[in-house]
Amino acid sequence: MNYNRMTAAEAASLIQNGEIIALSGFTPAGSPKAVTAELAKQAEEKHARGEAFRIGIITGASTGDSCDGVLTRAHAIQFRAPYTTNTDFRKAVNNGEINYTDIHLSQVAQRLRSGFLGHVTTAIVEACELTDDGRIYLTAGVGITPTIARLADRVIIELNAAHSKRIIGMHDLYEMERPPYRRPIPIVRPSDRIGLPYIQVDPRKIAGVVEVNIPDEARGFSAPDPVTDKIGQNVADFLAADMKRGIIPSTFLPLQSGVGNIANAVLSALGRDSSIPPFEMYTEVIQNSVITLIKEGRIKFGSTCSLSVTNDCLDDIYQNMDFFAHKLVLRPSEISNCPEVIRRIGVITMNTAIEADIYGNVNSTHICGTKMMNGIGGSGDFTRSAYISIFSCPSTAKGGCISSIVPMVSHLDHSEHSVNVIITEQGIADLRGKSPMERAQAVIENCAHPDYKQLLWDYLKISTKGQTSHSLSAALGMHQVFLKKGDMRLTDWSEFAG
Ligand code: COA
Repeated sequence: MNYNRMTAAEAASLIQNGEIIALSGFTPAGSPKAVTAELAKQAEEKHARGEAFRIGIITGASTGDSCDGVLTRAHAIQFRAPYTTNTDFRKAVNNGEINYTDIHLSQVAQRLRSGFLGHVTTAIVEACELTDDGRIYLTAGVGITPTIARLADRVIIELNAAHSKRIIGMHDLYEMERPPYRRPIPIVRPSDRIGLPYIQVDPRKIAGVVEVNIPDEARGFSAPDPVTDKIGQNVADFLAADMKRGIIPSTFLPLQSGVGNIANAVLSALGRDSSIPPFEMYTEVIQNSVITLIKEGRIKFGSTCSLSVTNDCLDDIYQNMDFFAHKLVLRPSEISNCPEVIRRIGVITMNTAIEADIYGNVNSTHICGTKMMNGIGGSGDFTRSAYISIFSCPSTAKGGCISSIVPMVSHLDHSEHSVNVIITEQGIADLRGKSPMERAQAVIENCAHPDYKQLLWDYLKISTKGQTSHSLSAALGMHQVFLKKGDMRLTDWSEFAG
């Protein structure tokens, strides 16, 4: 079929006010970049002429600035789901301009199929290759692409020459049926393949092909520091001890690791720890540290939804595809994050908390209970179904003015029933099999910063005794003091009596 080759501006002009568009990719990896950037320019022009233009956007996870950033600044986003990391987007969500729906990433495709999120008119898909019969070969991230390519009325392809065609074959694309017809997902090892290396669509649905050459808008990482190094070492020590006790088999179990600086540091520490045997990953993002560990033979295989790596690292993978082709598989998010598979293969999950409370409840998404940070991402998919679920974070934030260990989380993403272990640079609180009050002892003693330990012990003294002791008037007192005085250390429990 002769596709309609067009510019990014021509493709963008197909999208009308009020439409819902959906994008390929997962993190900036594999996300389209040119059409969304043109869409933002056209939105600004329309707004200048007094015309309305706002759309809904559904993605696999975060995107780059050429989507969330430019479209936010153009005031062109009506609603958006799910996870994002863009600073301007975050501000617009927190000031009420954009309606943001934060969904477990494994559930986005199913919710789309089931009609919970409205009708997707246009799927914009980044590809490295497209055949005449409608086979689309994806790039460095998958996300919800198989589902949106099938559901959308029209598909716009961004054929991106910045990605090597050598990635063809790394994808394993499988779409679930709708209940009640769904079958078991036949993955019993991270390396199992169950789908096709391409997406097949009716070529007549491909409304336009835009040729581009734009690298992924990859994020770099802060260099590990003594705090993140110590957190990483504590996680490694914990896992090594569980292996010695026989809780983790000597063959080890697949690991999942979250996003961000701390996750990167944790993986580096695991790689250095020779008491942990080479392991596999069943995860949603692979960051630079995983690629290094694959090259060093410390990681045997990685199942992921995206190669969320820096561009030099991605080039390295493309250059050495003979080596990496058998060490990596790229899956849709509903498979990379599938609770059924995670529970079956016994994934040990390692995610980052914004704050944890003394009873083991975790907040991953909101600052002081009100301001959205990024979103829950896949942390809920993995935590609830984990063999062992670990959350780590520095014991303090903002130069020590915030304690990450608080009496009660100001927003709840992962409850005490799902969280097994909390780790900070101070130490390890193993919460498995413990009652709430035993958990509080472990968390305060092992994880809280010395500046906050006494404050937290004193909180228990003023609490009403129960299965889970609390003072309802003081539970969020440390947050209130931070908001008023800028430092949680200034908390005086006597001010919260009652
Ligand atoms: N109160 C206020 N701010 C806090 C805080 C707290 N208790 N804890 C952390 N922060 C701030 C940090 O100061 C930092 O701010 P800055 O950007 O202004 O410097 C920011 O939050 C990020 O913290 P950092 O320590 O650099 O951690 P990170 O880069 O590892 O990110 C999360 C941490 C929780 C935001 C990130 O992991 C996330 O979005 N998680 C949710 C999604 C997820 O878990 N996905 C996993 C599956 S892949």
